Amino acid sequence: MIALPEPGPLVMPLGEALLSRRSRYRYEPVGLSALGSLLGWAVGVQRRVDGHVLGMNPTAGGLPSLAVHVVRDGEVLEYSREEHALRLVGTGVLEGVFTQPEFESRASTVVVLSGLLGPGLEKYGEVHQSTVRLDGGIALQNLYLVGTALGLRCCAVAGFDVVRVRELVGGEGDPLALFVVG
Ligand SMILES: Cc1cc2nc3c(=O)[nH]c(=O)nc-3n(C[C@H](O)[C@H](O)[C@H](O)COP(=O)(O)O)c2cc1C
Repeated sequence: MIALPEPGPLVMPLGEALLSRRSRYRYEPVGLSALGSLLGWAVGVQRRVDGHVLGMNPTAGGLPSLAVHVVRDGEVLEYSREEHALRLVGTGVLEGVFTQPEFESRASTVVVLSGLLGPGLEKYGEVHQSTVRLDGGIALQNLYLVGTALGLRCCAVAGFDVVRVRELVGGEGDPLALFVVG
């Protein structure tokens, strides 16, 4: 388990983050401190209510509908928001993941958002197939805005090989989006 540093302060006003957010295509390596701030603010725990954990990113019914993995330095790490830590779940490279080859050569840190249908399907039925994608979109925008406030370059990526990404993150969930950061 790799404990992440507690998130540092986010000082950029929301209006400035919304206005200056861009998709950017050149990246630097991301240290653990920046990664801790990014994940903690964007998809970490916000509060606990009656034993339920609720995230910085709202999800339908407050259910745990997303798995968050980080691929960096040849390692695949699962983010545990409750422990604010990364757990090594595998190894793998980004080869063959992206439709656009420039991401493969430039990206060093990639966040993978996967949908977990189970809990929501039980509560909401079929509509949860699309709701889980909304949950993923909200998390993606949090990542963009927090990344911007932290001075990181970011890009959401929909062009990826879903089979390859599923293999990379160990088959858990349905890969929804990648987020390249640095
Ligand atoms: C869900 C989503 C998926 C995206 N997928 C890709 C992608 O696969 N490749 C890419 O170059 N940009 C991708 N982008 C970035 C968009 O092209 C970009 O957000 C858009 O052109 C507007 O630019 P901006 O983000 O700088 O405002 C994606 C953005 C979103 C929100």
